Amino acid sequence: MDVENRIRELSALLLRHQYLYYVKAQPEISDAEYDRLFDELVALEEGYPQFADENSPTRRVGSDLDNTFPERRHAVPVLSLDKEYNTGELANWLQKTVKNADRPLGFVVEEKMDGASIVLYYRDGALAAAVTRGDGSRGNDVTGNIRTVPQVPLVIADKGELAVRGEVYIAKSDFETYNKTFDDKYANPRNLAAGSLRNLKSSLVAQVPLKIFCYEGYFRGQNAENGGRALNDHIHILIKLRELGFRVSENLGFFSDNEELAAQVRSLAPGFVVGGVADLVKYVEERIALRDSLDYEIDGLVIKVNEIDVREMLGSTAHHPRWAVAFKFDAPLAQTVLEDVQVQVGRNGRVTPVAILQPVRIAGSTVTRATLHNQEYIDMLELGPGDLVSISKRGDIIPAVEDVVEKALENPSVYRLPEACQFCGTRFVKDGAHHFCKNKQCPERIRRAITYFTAKGQMDIDTLGEKTVAFLFDEGFVRCIPDIYRFDYGRLLGEEGFKEKKVENFKQSVLESKSRPFKTVLTALGFEGIAANAVSMLIKNGYDSVDKIIEAASRRDTEVFSSIDGFGGIMAELMIQHFTDPDNLRLIQELKELGLNFNEGQVVGTDLVLQSMAGATWVITGSFEHFNPRSKAAEEIERRGGKVASAVSAKTSYVLAGEKAGSKLAKARELGIPVVDEAQFRKMLEE
Ligand code: IVH
Repeated sequence: MDVENRIRELSALLLRHQYLYYVKAQPEISDAEYDRLFDELVALEEGYPQFADENSPTRRVGSDLDNTFPERRHAVPVLSLDKEYNTGELANWLQKTVKNADRPLGFVVEEKMDGASIVLYYRDGALAAAVTRGDGSRGNDVTGNIRTVPQVPLVIADKGELAVRGEVYIAKSDFETYNKTFDDKYANPRNLAAGSLRNLKSSLVAQVPLKIFCYEGYFRGQNAENGGRALNDHIHILIKLRELGFRVSENLGFFSDNEELAAQVRSLAPGFVVGGVADLVKYVEERIALRDSLDYEIDGLVIKVNEIDVREMLGSTAHHPRWAVAFKFDAPLAQTVLEDVQVQVGRNGRVTPVAILQPVRIAGSTVTRATLHNQEYIDMLELGPGDLVSISKRGDIIPAVEDVVEKALENPSVYRLPEACQFCGTRFVKDGAHHFCKNKQCPERIRRAITYFTAKGQMDIDTLGEKTVAFLFDEGFVRCIPDIYRFDYGRLLGEEGFKEKKVENFKQSVLESKSRPFKTVLTALGFEGIAANAVSMLIKNGYDSVDKIIEAASRRDTEVFSSIDGFGGIMAELMIQHFTDPDNLRLIQELKELGLNFNEGQVVGTDLVLQSMAGATWVITGSFEHFNPRSKAAEEIERRGGKVASAVSAKTSYVLAGEKAGSKLAKARELGIPVVDEAQFRKMLEE
């Protein structure tokens, strides 16, 4: 067989096996066999690029070239749906629709996937374009990114023109794993899916576990005969889409009083629930109860008229069709006015608009703020200051602005993010769905980085909470992370609210934090993607010191890191980016010199010969003659491998008690923990 034919044959084979694996979840060959075929195709395509096709199954890995997302006009109007919130309203809608149609109807009930809306266009049996919903008549062309989604068919057995609407989403379980790597930076699977579609590099999109469900098909000449079945109703279109290799949810109900049609659907799609129109509302109630058992997020159900000619007759308003309705699960709990939008800039530069709301009570608490995620979310809602909005609580916890109920009477507008950062004046840059302040010297970014570093769960310096950090930062005392360890907290004496005891606590907790292990230090630096579990993986794979990591990154070879279990190419790129960045290297060097742990197993400032206190946890209380300030005693303990804690517990090994020792001493006595006085302590140090 010649090369061209072998390439064609391999492509067809691999596309079929991708379909069996990703869409049907019923692979027919082993992973090893698949890899063998894949590698053969890659090799042939490299050797004979003239035969390589853009719809080749090897192209799903994406490209490193920057995408552009030109605007495209939709060939079909991409409308959204009117909403109902209870089964009573739904029953009314059914009645009204049947009455308007003036003939018996069938209805299809589908899940309303909570992802990112996409329209796939096919021509000559191949994917020609994938376009976001946009404003309904124009969207962005994101074809390069969509090609990387394994469940999207690249070639189909229908040569006619076809448009397919679907929802790109991320499974709940995949989201959890993925988001952990990124420090829980994505608010929910929907945001990650929508953001990924607009990622500039398709090679990065390929690493996001995107999936798709398809729910509408527009065949050119829809009424044409099709294997004996006429494609003039929705349920047959869905069945046809499935036959062509599109992923259609199995959780689907078909309700019609036409016995013949019902029987036909039962035999063509045995997984669907089939019943009479009177069974529909009960089915909806059953599906509501099953919501949480799904591994993907749905925010409701969609009820659609089955007959295409009735759909045409009923038509649409400017926003939504009259032949379908969304039954939403989370009825908005309250309404309030959007007073303002505040712009937050995070430590990695990401810009988040936050809704400032007129205070409103929801489920026992007063809500005044809610995240608006990004400009796209605001645009989707067409939201502006002064608007009356409905608020819900997603997952019963986080308040969300759900919808605009009524636009502001005076000056109705849609909010736009400012062009530049209000903290440093740098122009925002858009990357994916979000805007960023890319200025690493931005004071707000630095303040946030310091706050993150000291926070609970990171270095856990409990005296340096957000307000105190803001104070120290604004006063110019602590302007960067290393300053935390350089600043002489004694200078605070005399400032309002800073008494001796408080200042002493500052010193002690800052000093104590120096004994945090390497893993904690590296995580607390807050580099994007370098969260606790990523650092554990690094250490497990032999990168147990920052020097080893920096050395590996300096080779600028992604393979070095992407071979680590759980690290994909995105992580590998981030590793190289962070650990070759001169600012980061300087930061690490400074912290190292200040005595923080950058080596797993290392203990701060330890003389290797002097490990006499290793494994012991000390609590220091009272005042001392020689160890003044008290932190001097802590330094001695830590130099010898011991730890210093602030509270007495069963885990405390010794309590060092000076003059006027109070409740800690009492607690030590109560728990039977050895108490050491200053003289005994000095003796121990000499030993
Ligand atoms: S039908 C005119 N079906 O919900 C047809 N939409 O508010 C309208 N969606 O933009 C769409 N699952 O992104 C339809 N099974 C489903 C859906 C669905 C999710 C989304 C879609 C649309 C929005 C409508």
